[in-house]
Amino acid sequence: MAPIISIENIAEYVDQKVTIRGWLYHSTRKGKLLFLRLRDGSGMTQGVAFRPEVGDALFETLKRLGQESSLIVTGTVRANNRAPGLPKGYEIGIESVELLQDVSDYPITPKEHGVEFLMDNRHLWLRSSRQWAIMRLRATIKRAIIDFLDNEGFLNVDTPIITPSAAEGTSTLFEIEYFDETAYLAQTGQLYNEANIMAFGKVYCFGPTFRAEKSKTRRHLAEFWMVEPEMAFFDLDDLMDFEERFVEYIVQTALAKRAPELELLGRDLTALEKVKAPFPRISYDEALERIAAIREATDDPELKELLAIEWGDDFGSPHETELTKQFDRPVFVYGYPTQVKAFYMEPWPGRPEVCKSVDLLAPEGYGEIIGGSERMSDPQMLIEAIRKHELPQAHYNWYIDLRRFGSVPHSGFGLGLERTVAWICGIDHIRQTSPFPRTLNRLNP
Ligand code: 4AD
Ligand code: MG
Repeated sequence: MAPIISIENIAEYVDQKVTIRGWLYHSTRKGKLLFLRLRDGSGMTQGVAFRPEVGDALFETLKRLGQESSLIVTGTVRANNRAPGLPKGYEIGIESVELLQDVSDYPITPKEHGVEFLMDNRHLWLRSSRQWAIMRLRATIKRAIIDFLDNEGFLNVDTPIITPSAAEGTSTLFEIEYFDETAYLAQTGQLYNEANIMAFGKVYCFGPTFRAEKSKTRRHLAEFWMVEPEMAFFDLDDLMDFEERFVEYIVQTALAKRAPELELLGRDLTALEKVKAPFPRISYDEALERIAAIREATDDPELKELLAIEWGDDFGSPHETELTKQFDRPVFVYGYPTQVKAFYMEPWPGRPEVCKSVDLLAPEGYGEIIGGSERMSDPQMLIEAIRKHELPQAHYNWYIDLRRFGSVPHSGFGLGLERTVAWICGIDHIRQTSPFPRTLNRLNP
């Protein structure tokens, strides 16, 4: 009996007889030769059926097999540097085939389809090679995130998904019925992380978070995954030092482990190779000056209009896009106006209109992938901020307690998994980075 192998490991079986179990992706014929692109979930390879070897009956069956037919193929692995696949350079000389299901009319064909059609068929689209490659990168990026933090001595502490109050503004809350009360799906685990660091020092949570984003953009999902590290005795500079090592590790690991998938996606690998610490650090004030200079220099009236901004405004995508084009690696923008950020950020010493926040903007126009800050550590100041933001103080008493009982300087951040995957994969819309994305107008499948 030939061993059942994963295509991923095919290189270990050259000149051996093996069995693979999978699906037919595509087939072409050249006279007495039939080339079957086979996929088994772990990779793709080429099965070659030679009419005189497999016999007329099997050859005819295989010739007529529809896309996504499920089958079990046995044959001998050969090295062939022209053979396509992932890994490429191998093929299987087919000897026998057990057909599980002969499929006809698979809806997603090699021709171009509209994205809404593909999204309606997301349950099938995931089988296509680009989507497959993106999901493999997503898994590798997730693993790299966890490995890095675990190696740095962080404790993974889970935070609740059902929460009584807002943390990132009240306009994007998903409300749910919670017995006799109103509750919300978590926008962030941060506030709980702040309790957890006072117990465990360095912690992270990593899970789904929810934002009822009422706008359609390339960067927003209603449900997304966020990793949130939080550290006691950490200031804003410590935070930037840490984030750049973290992001370098994630990108370099993705590159080392998934270069073939990135190549399949057509990603420019040299752009990723440049993602090495240190990253440039500019203040919000300097960012505004740079944006003003870009506005000044452009002849494009539309861009001029899009880039209009005054001190105190938050950046929109066009601002981030133009700004990040000036750098070949991610750039930190720190010291945003207090009024555009969440209530919990430590004020800048001597400049209460500015806070100790820092966003990390990815290059090539991708924009914000991380939001973070040093946290307010004074209880009285925090009570003031909660009042100013018109939040119900009763829900935050436990959070204020953290400043009453052993308050220390502390900082943390959140990195959005899907935005990071989109940037690393070089794809233009975040919806392709989630297996089953949730957006303003999509809940199905
Ligand atoms: O900047 P945000 O809102 O920060 C927080 O939630 C902090 N409480 C995190 C912390 O300090 N622990 O979100 C952080 C990141 C963003 O930079 C972005 O990558 C991602 O989460 N993100 C989204 N990703 C997809 N769709 C959305 N609607 C997102 N909103 C935020
Ligand atoms: Mg943000």
